[in-house]
Amino acid sequence: MRLAELTALFGQLDFPRSDGHARPPRDHVRAVEGAVRAGLSDDELPLELLALEIERRDGAPELAPFYVVPEVGVRVAFAYWRPGRAAGAHEHSDWTVTAVLHNALDVATFDWDATARARRLVPKRLFSAEAGRVGHIYGPCIHDPRNPTARWSISLHLFGPSDGPVLEAQVGPVEGLAPAAPRPAAAHGRRPRARPRCSPKAPVPAHRRRYDRRAALRDARGGTSGPESTLPRPAELSSDPGAHRRGRGLLAHERECVRRAQVDALAHRGPRAAALLARLHARGDAGTRARAARALGRPEELDPRAALVRRWPGVDLDVVWSADRAELLARCGERAQLLVRVPAWAEPALRALAAASELRPRDIPGLAEAEQLALARALVDWGTFQPFAAQEN
Ligand SMILES: [Fe+2]
Repeated sequence: MRLAELTALFGQLDFPRSDGHARPPRDHVRAVEGAVRAGLSDDELPLELLALEIERRDGAPELAPFYVVPEVGVRVAFAYWRPGRAAGAHEHSDWTVTAVLHNALDVATFDWDATARARRLVPKRLFSAEAGRVGHIYGPCIHDPRNPTARWSISLHLFGPSDGPVLEAQVGPVEGLAPAAPRPAAAHGRRPRARPRCSPKAPVPAHRRRYDRRAALRDARGGTSGPESTLPRPAELSSDPGAHRRGRGLLAHERECVRRAQVDALAHRGPRAAALLARLHARGDAGTRARAARALGRPEELDPRAALVRRWPGVDLDVVWSADRAELLARCGERAQLLVRVPAWAEPALRALAAASELRPRDIPGLAEAEQLALARALVDWGTFQPFAAQEN
């Protein structure tokens, strides 16, 4: 499944437009849930969504949409959960579809009516959700997702356009209910509304995204290290005189943690994940680069004598001619992907690669050593070959 198919589903089901307050029938939300479940059952949709997230948000740790479905205003976002992180019990008043993309979450739910009557949280259920688990909320609902594991988790969220807290406005303060996160200031002097704790920020306009990307690059250069599970949130330092500087350092660290979680989510998704892993490798700090390099199955420095072995047994390499150039294609069933196009004189190198189940860069025929290493590095980046040592681990 592709994102375009998922987007088209909202039109086919005649979801309400974002400028109204109508809510779709619950069966239509269930249909979206089923489509997301089907989409997450293979790699195509996760890779497409992660590609958008990485390109548009570049490791930004806060919950904000990387995509908004045109016309219906459904916001699509990833949430990142450090080990032990809990969202805090919060409300959803519209519909949402939520999936665990990577690792696992525990989700506590609370009885809405009993909570409203008692004005304190009344527990209802606690369930565990592994990667691939998809569910929906048809509000109102109170829940508290948390990551009970020692690794980072990633969840995928589709939010209806009218989500927001309503309970305390109806019954007064509720003991245990997390305060809603403030919305960014609204345009035209309108009063900002609160938003629920796992409802995303408004989309960032293009001119702001460019600014944020520059800030991201600046922050990434100043990355810090430390135990992920004990990091205070930047907001917790806000009363400290050095808070701004340290807050930026923590944000940079969070950004690297997000990138590393993305690396982990991509690590077992086959050769088509290699380009995204290479992008994270290029953007990340040393720790992220090392993690991405491991996921790509490559050492940081490639030795001309290092043994490389083929990955992905179901993928065949083939050499074809296009105009006066030789092309190396990766074929899997009916699908073919162009890996590299070279001048005619380098065709023997491609033939050797296509035939090899194991090779050493220095043995690639007809190339200088620098060309041998560049080609071997590209093969490892694409996930076509991996160092023999990495295969053993
Ligand atoms: Fe939530």
